[in-house]
Amino acid sequence: MNAKNPPESPIGVFDSGVGGLSVLREIRRELPHEDLLYVADSGHAPYGDKSTELIEARSIAIVEFLISQRAKAIVVACNTATGVAIQALRARFTIPIIAMEPAVKPAAAHTKSGVIGVLATSRTIASDNFAKLHERFGADVKILMQACPGLVEQVEAGYLSDDKTRSLIEQYVVPLLEQGVDTIVLGCTHYPFLAPLIQKIAGSSVAIIDPSAAIARELRRRLASADLLSTQNKTGIERFWSSAPPHKARFIISELWRLDIDVLVLPDHTSISTALKHHVAP
Ligand code: DGL
Repeated sequence: MNAKNPPESPIGVFDSGVGGLSVLREIRRELPHEDLLYVADSGHAPYGDKSTELIEARSIAIVEFLISQRAKAIVVACNTATGVAIQALRARFTIPIIAMEPAVKPAAAHTKSGVIGVLATSRTIASDNFAKLHERFGADVKILMQACPGLVEQVEAGYLSDDKTRSLIEQYVVPLLEQGVDTIVLGCTHYPFLAPLIQKIAGSSVAIIDPSAAIARELRRRLASADLLSTQNKTGIERFWSSAPPHKARFIISELWRLDIDVLVLPDHTSISTALKHHVAP
């Protein structure tokens, strides 16, 4: 698809669910005049336990939807979708696509103990992108990768600090600390919402690194180099869509965005079966 939308068009951002709001927050800080569109595919979260075909199909269908809403650039605010679908997206769409990368490089530069931990979904840890990061930095520092099943679901449900969330984080973080980790990378966009609890459990001497602000800066660079930065002076607006039931979606997105906002239902043409029928070879 060769849509080229003008600089005053919005930026499209999506995630398997509400986690990408942590990236949207940084984009809003970095680019206050841009209009932002956000799709939470919460009806199909977590992506971590879905097939490659399904994640690709959902990602393609959502990007098509965002382009139909005049998006000039896309941010894949999901490490899992990045790991699984980024090549398919770049092969198909010509507008700028900015994707997540776990912040292993800054963590490697920051660590004093020489041991860093990465919290991510199992799919992200198993991805090629991740293997490449490991190859690149694994000689200089010890990288301990920790899959965190259950945490995406806790954030999707709005349980940011209940007993179950705390015990899952302890289960994942304490073994890392015992192995000398002094720097923890948040390799899933849902986890910044758990950062206060992760920090509390890890202790104040452990650095927690979230790549979202760097992604927002990269977005600014990419827009600038394509002459796509908005020239409007007014504050940008945000619009939200979700594939979850409307009441649930509105509650959790309003909680995390800290404003009472409207969330529209993601139109049917992006439903799983249609997405699969149109985009995946039989
Ligand atoms: N926020 C997504 C990520 O960054 C969660 C993935 C999932 O739904 O499994 O990986």
